[in-house]
Formats: sequence, structure tokens, C-alpha cells
Amino acid sequence: MLKAPRGTMDILPKNAARWHFLEDTFKKICYSYGYQEIRTPIIEQTELFQRGVGESTDVIEKEMYSFQDRGGRSISLRPEGTAPVARAYIEHKMYNLPQPVKMYYYGPMFRYDRPQAGRYRQFYQLGVEALGAADPAIDAEVIMLAREFFLEIGLDDLVLQLNSVGCPECRLSYREKLVSFFQQHEQSLCSDCQRRLMQNPLRLLDCKKEKCGFIAQKAPVIKDHLCLSCREHFDSLLHSLDALKVPYELNTQLVRGLDYYTKTAFEFIEGSHKSQNSLGGGGRYDCLVETYGGPATPGIGVALGVERILMALESKNIEEKLPENAGIFVAVAEHSLSNIRWELVYALRRKGFYVDTDFLGHRSLRSQLKTANKKGFPYLIIIGPDEVKRGNITLRNMKSGSQEEVSMEKLSVYLSSLMGERPEEGC
Ligand code: HAM
Repeated sequence: MLKAPRGTMDILPKNAARWHFLEDTFKKICYSYGYQEIRTPIIEQTELFQRGVGESTDVIEKEMYSFQDRGGRSISLRPEGTAPVARAYIEHKMYNLPQPVKMYYYGPMFRYDRPQAGRYRQFYQLGVEALGAADPAIDAEVIMLAREFFLEIGLDDLVLQLNSVGCPECRLSYREKLVSFFQQHEQSLCSDCQRRLMQNPLRLLDCKKEKCGFIAQKAPVIKDHLCLSCREHFDSLLHSLDALKVPYELNTQLVRGLDYYTKTAFEFIEGSHKSQNSLGGGGRYDCLVETYGGPATPGIGVALGVERILMALESKNIEEKLPENAGIFVAVAEHSLSNIRWELVYALRRKGFYVDTDFLGHRSLRSQLKTANKKGFPYLIIIGPDEVKRGNITLRNMKSGSQEEVSMEKLSVYLSSLMGERPEEGC
């Protein structure tokens, strides 16, 4: 039997409403914060991620879906959304717009990772990026936006972890300290860490292997090596968060898995100590745009993992505010009345009502009613020969069981008064 590829899943119609709930809530919050949607391609040149995310990260070394297209170009499915947004910022000369340019996105990302609960090969992110502002106030805004989203959907006990990973300047001296520390433990490190030690020692702080994690706990922390500008930036962010009464934890071990970060790095962690507990993460990337040949442009953003958020909601038994079926099912008592049915169905749909009917051949009225009931329609229209002669239909309230005859001409106005909507007059 053919199945969805390992690490991917179908979002079935019965679950789609939960996804819409998250997307709609996210869009609403982005709108109120002044972020506008950007949609970038799902495929990009492989080089975009190699240069931006970093050659020696797990994402690039092990997790990219890369292939040659028929023109011989190396193309990759996007593993994340920040590098494409930075590319689009340069390509469309958004640096000429009033700064910062604030954008949001949502869509699938791809990483060839070992699938497990909360870790997929295709997963969805909701993300924002603000490019063109160096002020720590925008770091606070991005964190507030993500926090507001989590609070709005009912996840009020996530822990915000914060760190500063410094800038290329403060990393010069820190790098030396790190290398000499890890060299003392070289034989105990995993082969990836041994290889990355000289190339990119900061990555060793992010190794998921237990033995490396144990060693990394005692490594020198960047906090003690921040330059004045990074120190002031971080202090100012903490000050803003304190003023906004946003609780946070400082985590000097937090370096994040992508190389483009500078200064602020943060994650929203689920309190429980399960392994995939980061529901979202982000940070500042002040050198990324320049890396791609654009003008020096600071940036900051965050991305939230939809599957993990849904799992967290489920484990807390939080009911999303899902829309109820607010529709109308149209049934015909006799097949000869079918033309009237189609006219009515399409006319009501044009008025904006959610209308459905039976497509399983000439079924009895009883079977049609059963279907309407199973699908949870609150209203049922029955087209019967006697009512039609009077220019009417029967409208049944499925909850109360009460029914009444309503003129076809006034039907849409009557329905909108019943359902609290006001589509145009006449049907
Ligand atoms: P990231 O930490 O790699 O950051 O991913 C962000 C979130 O995506 C994670 O916290 C997690 O919830 C979700 N996620 C990551 N990988 C998987 C996976 N394999 N399966 C399921 N969910 C996953 C970024 O991607 C950065 N682009 C975030 C950012 C935006 N930084 C600045 N701007």
C-alpha cells in the first residue's frame, strides 16, 4: 500500500479547522503588530542555505533535501524561512522601503531528520522577520508577538529562554577559549564535534549527543565575553521585557542550531522535560543580509512549530475555538424537484451561505436527512411538491426539530436573520 513518505503526514479535513485556528490567530496578531505576509518559494538555490544557515550545522550537513534540477542546478527544499526572506529583501530592494520591513509567513519546511514525536521531515512554521532595525525594542516586539500568540491559543505556561550569542567581534576571543576548553576533552567528543572543533566550535554547544552535552555544560559561556555593544543590547532587551512584565529565564547554553544568529537568541520551551520541547525559537541575525551581498542590515525573527503547538494543545486538553458547522443542507422529497434544488443551492451559495446537498443519486428523503444529521448541519431545507406549488420550502431547525414553511423569495433574508448574518436581499 502506498503511504505518505516517512516523517510526513496528511492533514485530514477533520483536522483542518485546528490548523486554520492557529493560522488565523497568528495572522490576526501579525496584522495588529504591522507585519505583512510574504510568500517565498518552497525551493531555493542550495547555496542560499549553505551560506546563510552555515555549512557545519546539522541542517546543512545532514538534513537538507537537495537535488539537481534538469538544468543541472542544485536546488533544495527550504529547511527554514529566514534565509529566503533575507534573499527576497535584497532581490526586491526592500532596503529602499521605510525600515524596518516587517513580514510574516507560514508554510511547510523540510528537514531530513530522524522522525519521532514532534520531529518531522515536513513540518509547518509560523514565522515573522523584521529587517532593518538594530534597536533592541524590536527584539522585544518579536518576542511579545510570539508570546501573545501562545497566550491567545491557551499555552500560558511556556518558558521563554534567552541568551545573547554575541557578534563576530566578541566571538574572536570567545572562540579561542572554547577551542582550548574542548581540546582538553577531544577524545570524549562525538565524531561530528571532533570535526567541527576547529571549523566552528560554537556548534559544539548545540550538540544533541548526551556525552557532548555533558561536557558542554562546563564550557566557557559567551555571556562573559560579550563586547560592550552586545552587552548593552542584551541589557536593554531585558529591561524592556521587565517593564512589560514578561517572565524569562536566562540560559547561557542556548546557542540555537543555525549559524546566522548574532546577539539575541531565544526559545519558547514547554515546561515538561520531553525531548522536542521547543515550540518556537528565533533571534537576531545582523550579518545575514550582508553575507548575501546586500547592504548591512540588522534583522530579527522567530518561527513557531505548528505540529508541536498542536501536540501541546492536545496534551493539555485545550479545546481550540473551532467554528461550528453553520451550514444548510438541502434535501429533495422527489427527484423531479431536483432542478429547483440546484437553483436554490447555487443561489444561496452566491449569497455567502455554506450550503450542501446530497450527491449519492436518487436517495430517499430519510437517507438524506440522516446524512444531514451525521454531518452536523444545524438547518435543513426540504423541497417538497406541495410547498413548491405555494412557492415555499420547509425549513427545519435540526437541533430543536421544529420546522416551518418559508417563501423561497424571502429565504435568504430569513436565513440571515436566523443565523445572525446579513447577505443581500432576495434569493
Ligand atoms: P528553528 O529553531 O530551527 O528556527 O525552528 C523553529 C521551530 O520550528 C522549532 O522551535 C520547532 O518548534 C519547529 N521545528 C524545527 N524543526 C522541526 C522538525 N523537524 N519537526 C517539527 N517541528 C520542527 C528556525 O527555523 C529559524 N528560521 C527561526 C528564526 C526566524 N530565526 C530568526 N527568524
